[in-house]
Amino acid sequence: METSVQLEQTGPRSKDHGRDLAIEGGKQFQRFKRLNRVLHIIMIISFMSLALTGMTLKFSYTGWAVFLSRLFGGFESAGYIHRVAAVFMIGIFIVHIVDLVRMKRQLYGTWRALLFGPDSMLFNKKDLHDLVGNIKWFLGKGPRPQYGRWTYWEKFDYFAVFWGIAIIGSTGLMLWFPEFFTQLIPGWFINVATIIHSDEALLAVGFIFTVHFFNTHLRPEKFPMDIVIFTGQMSLEELKRDKPAEHDALVKSGRLEENLLDPYPPIVIRAVRIFGWCALALGFSIVIWIIYAMLFAYR
Ligand code: HEM
Repeated sequence: METSVQLEQTGPRSKDHGRDLAIEGGKQFQRFKRLNRVLHIIMIISFMSLALTGMTLKFSYTGWAVFLSRLFGGFESAGYIHRVAAVFMIGIFIVHIVDLVRMKRQLYGTWRALLFGPDSMLFNKKDLHDLVGNIKWFLGKGPRPQYGRWTYWEKFDYFAVFWGIAIIGSTGLMLWFPEFFTQLIPGWFINVATIIHSDEALLAVGFIFTVHFFNTHLRPEKFPMDIVIFTGQMSLEELKRDKPAEHDALVKSGRLEENLLDPYPPIVIRAVRIFGWCALALGFSIVIWIIYAMLFAYR
């Protein structure tokens, strides 16, 4: 297969000899389909809104929260904005589950193939090997692991958000509709739900704006920002370097070509970067605010 042969030449040598035609033509590899990119953008906006309004309610006794509450139109309307953003977050969670069911039907045939195939988000033995291999690589005692479609830290981030939404969302609904839920659960559980919601929210914000940001944007290969979740595209060189096992499997099966696209014009990339910088700056600011509130103002 022509492209496969050419792709074999995309290693470091290709800088001097026989550059890949796809690379010369500027072709990009499509990593994320449009639906997942749209869902992630809605998630960023709803999560930021939930974090800002939620923290404003939680730390309402701090000067910062009073300042922010004025921007939101008061503490009561911060609560309303929180609920509207929550509807979007629950919405994208449901769309994602429906999409998984659709993928199972149309692409994989069985749940077994979807959940235990090579592109699954579930942890498997290879992840354990990759983790050990990565630690060795950090210490200079081995090569970088041959990562596939999802690295173990990407799977970890995915499940942190998956269960996070399930727990924060279900307890949030209990706080929103206590009359309905107390027909099913004892009244004291609403107090427990408040603690779970509030503390899990703190954990989620702390995790996303530190660990997730580091994993995705701040490690040396990606610094200062990886925009693949917005454009859905990465270069073939990046694919070969970051996900060699996925690259090799695509070349072997002859499916690489069908996943190649033309890049976006520079103006789109610039707009995406501006959005990304705003999200990063806001995220880091919220973390600093939480640390400040916990250390100096927590009641
Ligand atoms: C996704 C579904 C969610 C729903 C249905 C939901 C719902 C609620 C409701 C009804 C309240 C009470 C608001 C009030 O008193 O006016 C609340 C409080 C709060 N929410 Fe959410 N929320 C959700 C997600 C989130 C997320 C993702 C975060 C943070 C990232 C968050 C952080 C908070 C915080 C910190 C509070 C204040 C708790 C306290 O007073 O200690 N929520 N939420």
